[in-house]
Amino acid sequence: MSGITADLSGKVALVTGGGRGIGRAIAVALAGCGARVAVASRTLKEIEETRQIIAEKGGECLAIPADVTRVEAIYELVEKAYSWHNRLDILVNCAGINIAKFAVDVTEEDWDRVLDTNLKGTFFCCQAAGKKMIAGGGGRIINISSQMAHVGYYKRAAYCSSKGGVAQLTKVLAVEWAPHNVNVNCVAPTFLETPLTAPMFEDKDFYNDVIRRIPLGKIGKPEDVVGAVIYLASDAANMVTGSSILVDGGWVAW
Ligand SMILES: NC(=O)c1ccc[n+]([C@@H]2O[C@H](COP(=O)([O-])OP(=O)(O)OC[C@H]3O[C@@H](n4cnc5c(N)ncnc54)[C@H](O)[C@@H]3O)[C@@H](O)[C@H]2O)c1
Repeated sequence: MSGITADLSGKVALVTGGGRGIGRAIAVALAGCGARVAVASRTLKEIEETRQIIAEKGGECLAIPADVTRVEAIYELVEKAYSWHNRLDILVNCAGINIAKFAVDVTEEDWDRVLDTNLKGTFFCCQAAGKKMIAGGGGRIINISSQMAHVGYYKRAAYCSSKGGVAQLTKVLAVEWAPHNVNVNCVAPTFLETPLTAPMFEDKDFYNDVIRRIPLGKIGKPEDVVGAVIYLASDAANMVTGSSILVDGGWVAW
């Protein structure tokens, strides 16, 4: 479906934030490689649309509404995804938000919302799914961090902190779970065209600044990220854990 091939038939994947943007592209691509894909987001309408897109292409998809800021909801989500076919092989943590404000304007509520979604949510999804994978003999966890885990940028004190935390968390889990055959990695995209960024790019100064910093000279698309995810989910990445694959058009290479 994505033009990127790997044999993931028989595998069950769970994609958080799978209702739109990058998460939807990843869910569709995993299904195109034969995986059965559970998609989660807070919004049933979004994930129902993703389910239909996958079903129309002949894939198998389960839509599960869940809020990843709540640990109880995460455990229910993972239980539902696991119970679907009594296995869970791949977790993609893609649910994420940004509240763009200068550091002096960030409120406690802003900070908590961003950290609770991006870092706490990612950790407890990893924990709940990791327990299933350890018990099942192995698995793959792919955390969608950001180039902002590796560089700083205006109006992103909470966001960069959360994504830097995800990159570090990924290394810890890779070390702890390597003996259990659970590989944990990040994919770190630059700015991509999604519903999250569309309102930001209405500011032409911001758009021009972003383009200037990307050596390849263009904003990415969600489909630009799926190759790295499929690779990390596949047997080709058996020896890869604790790493971050930058899909950043060269931003971090400056
Ligand atoms: N778009 C970019 O430029 C870009 C760049 C680098 C990294 N990222 C990261 O990629 C991920 C996806 O970004 P996107 O641009 O596709 O965003 P998006 O806003 O288009 O989609 C985010 C998805 O996450 C879901 N979500 C948000 N909060 C949630 C919660 N509490 N519980 C469950 N689901 C929740 C939303 O419902 C939606 O389905 C995020 O983690 C983001 O930080 C995005």
